[in-house]
Amino acid sequence: MSAIEITQVKTGGTGSAVALLETFFHEEGFTTPRKRIEANLELMLQDASCWAALARVDGKPVGVVTVSTMVYVEWGRMGEIGDLYVQPDCRKLGVARALIDAALVWCQAKSCSAVSVVITQDGEQRHGLSKFYADLKFKPTGRTFMTKML
Ligand SMILES: CC(C)(COP(=O)(O)OP(=O)(O)OC[C@H]1O[C@@H](n2cnc3c(N)ncnc32)[C@H](O)[C@@H]1OP(=O)(O)O)[C@@H](O)C(=O)NCCC(=O)NCCS
Repeated sequence: MSAIEITQVKTGGTGSAVALLETFFHEEGFTTPRKRIEANLELMLQDASCWAALARVDGKPVGVVTVSTMVYVEWGRMGEIGDLYVQPDCRKLGVARALIDAALVWCQAKSCSAVSVVITQDGEQRHGLSKFYADLKFKPTGRTFMTKML
């Protein structure tokens, strides 16, 4: 198999990342429109506390990861994997692991004490995500994630 190349997504150059994220959202049933995906990714990349990367195989963009960091009393700076997607014909080749490894390196350079990820019930059923992340040494927290729309 060809080498997996990971490159940072930069502001003003988000086209391939947006296309992959749009496919990801569509496949998983999220209704966020492309324009909002594009605007929010651009907002993230203009903020030094966030990061995104593309994975390429044979020069073709096949995967994407986004990371946000926040500062907490408990954790100091903490990273969160926001989005992770690999196109179906390139799965089981280690592309997602390469993206997560790069995200962890970036979080370490940002002095994060830890990195988290939220696993939806659907993501668990469809992609066995807790095993995927457990293999990468992520541990369950037992905490419940709740949100209120503003
Ligand atoms: C979850 C997802 C990102 C994994 O992507 P991926 O590139 O297939 O992941 P990897 O190849 O790095 O690892 C997946 C599996 O392939 C295995 N694998 C990795 N390299 C391999 C290789 N060369 N040969 C055979 N198997 C391999 C890994 O051991 C891992 O095994 P597991 O299924 O037992 O955990 C992908 O399925 C996806 O995009 N799903 C939809 C979106 C999603 O749910 N995203 C997560 C949001 S948090």
